[in-house]
Amino acid sequence: MSEPTEPGGWATACYELAVNGSPQQVTDAWIGESLLFVLRERLGFTAAKDGCGEGECGACTVLMDGQPTAACLVPAVAAEGRAIETPELHAVPQPDPVAAALAAHAGAGCGFCLPGVGMELRALLARNGKPSAAAIRETLSGHRCRCLPPERFVAATTEAARVLARGRSHPPGQLAAQTAAQPHIPGQAHPGVREGEQAGVPA
Ligand code: FES
Repeated sequence: MSEPTEPGGWATACYELAVNGSPQQVTDAWIGESLLFVLRERLGFTAAKDGCGEGECGACTVLMDGQPTAACLVPAVAAEGRAIETPELHAVPQPDPVAAALAAHAGAGCGFCLPGVGMELRALLARNGKPSAAAIRETLSGHRCRCLPPERFVAATTEAARVLARGRSHPPGQLAAQTAAQPHIPGQAHPGVREGEQAGVPA
């Protein structure tokens, strides 16, 4: 961070944030700006939502060094040097299992709380691959949803956990790698591939 200056009486600073793995420059920003404001208004990461602005609703949740954090409460200058993840990282261009499960089970609501809920659930599933319904409810107790009952979020989390577990036991490319490692007899299909079917292309 460069030395704060005070043009016109407002202390400003220039600093760099690491957002979704990329360095982002912030210049001449008032040092009192929240991380949520800087993400949304200066850097264009608008998926984290501005709900209450005082740490009560969870809509602005991002991950800082893997920990769910209310971005409305953190001065952006204090986030320099921390790894920040926003919902965009997990939904663009392809939704991850959490985003997909939330869309399937909680898509009937207005959607305002879902980005923050998703970040909270990713942190939960990173430390507990099979959380109980009680653990899911407790984890989401700081998130306000006016549209849907908690059961929808329990169902979404359980489905996401199932998909993630399947992905861990069958990492992408594993079958292809196994197949490539098998000896291939000329004139015969590769192991695991039916006659007349190319690898990875359903007949
Ligand atoms: Fe940050 Fe509500 S906007 S908790």
